[in-house]
Amino acid sequence: MLAHEVQLIAVNNAGSLAASLLTVFLAGVALRYFLRLEKIPSVTVGLPILGNLQKYSLDPVGFISTATSSHGECFTVPMLFGKTIWLRSPQLNKEYLETREDVWSFGDGMGLFLNKIVIPGYFDQLRSMVGSLSRGISRKATLDYYAQVAEEEAVKSVDAWARTTADKDSVALFEEVSFLVHKIIVRCLMGQDFYDHHVEELYDLLHTMEANVGSILHTILPAWVPHGPARRLWASRDRVQEIFQHRLQEREKSPEQWKNSLDYITYTLQDPATAHLSRFYGAHHTLLMFAAHTSTVASISWTLLELLKSPERLQRLRDDLATTSLEKSPFLDALVKETGRHYSGNSDVRWARKPKTLRTDVASIPSEITIPKGTIVSISPYLTHHDPTAWETPDTYLPERWLDNADLAKKMNEGGQLRYIPFGAGSHRCPGEKMAILVSKTVVSTIVNRCEIAWGEGSSAEMLGGLDFSKVGSPWLKGDVQVRFGRRSR
Ligand code: HEM
Repeated sequence: MLAHEVQLIAVNNAGSLAASLLTVFLAGVALRYFLRLEKIPSVTVGLPILGNLQKYSLDPVGFISTATSSHGECFTVPMLFGKTIWLRSPQLNKEYLETREDVWSFGDGMGLFLNKIVIPGYFDQLRSMVGSLSRGISRKATLDYYAQVAEEEAVKSVDAWARTTADKDSVALFEEVSFLVHKIIVRCLMGQDFYDHHVEELYDLLHTMEANVGSILHTILPAWVPHGPARRLWASRDRVQEIFQHRLQEREKSPEQWKNSLDYITYTLQDPATAHLSRFYGAHHTLLMFAAHTSTVASISWTLLELLKSPERLQRLRDDLATTSLEKSPFLDALVKETGRHYSGNSDVRWARKPKTLRTDVASIPSEITIPKGTIVSISPYLTHHDPTAWETPDTYLPERWLDNADLAKKMNEGGQLRYIPFGAGSHRCPGEKMAILVSKTVVSTIVNRCEIAWGEGSSAEMLGGLDFSKVGSPWLKGDVQVRFGRRSR
């Protein structure tokens, strides 16, 4: 073959290659146009790399709310070394909460925060342990016992608070309710032996873990580096393990004494699904201290605070409780539901183990978006509960909305949309929901029946701080609030 013929063929081939590439490119553009497979928009606020982290830490709700206004219902928030993809619509809430564990993992999401305080291997057992929890604490006899424990502990606490108030001192509401809830959780879930011997030490350990779990050093250093917060978390984890080992050995010495106990450890020891997993109980109860404590404290404290702000509602609740049991009181039910709406957490967290393509009818985002693997995926219950397109006067605390409309929770979650999710939904829906509602109602009704509640020195509705979203779960009040509890003559 002559050289120029070779060149000609090469030119022709190059020409047809270019034409093919052009065709593929145009087809891709057309496909993208029709399917609207655009890239997920990325949020950058302030300084590169640090700006998002700084702004989000200061005001997580404001940050995600502003990002939703400017970027729509699906956007990426890069932070230091990782990124979170946020999904922001009632339809995407449903898709999110119903996605399977092997695709978007709840356990891996929790592991990002809790990996240094639970022993290796625990998250592989999470499904068995949570299944056992759902069964163990939903039985009627167990719930009756938990209500009794909650009432006994609440009575002891209000007596102590009333004595403090008689000495003219007020108490810090969230802090006091926090210790009360911890005592209830330890007695109900761990058992009387843990309560008698370790209740205060476990509370200190919980505080140490809470104070160190959010350190930035966990994000910027490899997991094995022994920096200060990591060492404190490992020491807390090891001490919890020791406590559990010791108590379980003690129980083995007198099995008869524990056979009929209604605490949840007794249940897990008898449940064939979890009896052989006792080395993980310490880790499991560490996770429960986080999962159960923060949001139950918030439920009780915010309800009491709202009653303190509104003497009319406080009187209405007392009138209700005078004529009906706490389980049946419509107003107490409305208060707890509204607290769950108004004061819910700002983010749920999943770790994407596999890529997942979402098909949506949400107007402002492409009809198909692919969430890549290796990212954190989040939704915001708080912003969902404050969405003005779904809720009337969403920023007003209004328990009456639940009285006027008995089916409101159901209606909010109809039509493939989730707009009311204080306890989540799908396979990770909170297994402690019944217990949490029962404990909240019991403690609130015990307090309002036995106590006069008043603002403490220097406190008033106008002086309250903002919402503190730094814990895992529902927000607390920044700076807490001083309250007086006086004995009430009945
Ligand atoms: C008012 C109090 C409570 C609220 C608002 C609450 C809320 C929630 C929510 C929203 C979730 C799902 C999170 C997600 O999908 O990412 C959840 C999960 C969970 N909650 Fe609760 N919770 C409360 C009390 C409790 C209590 C008392 C317990 C234990 C007895 C508990 C144990 C758990 C556990 C173990 C999970 C994880 C479930 C799983 O792995 O599938 N919670 N909770």
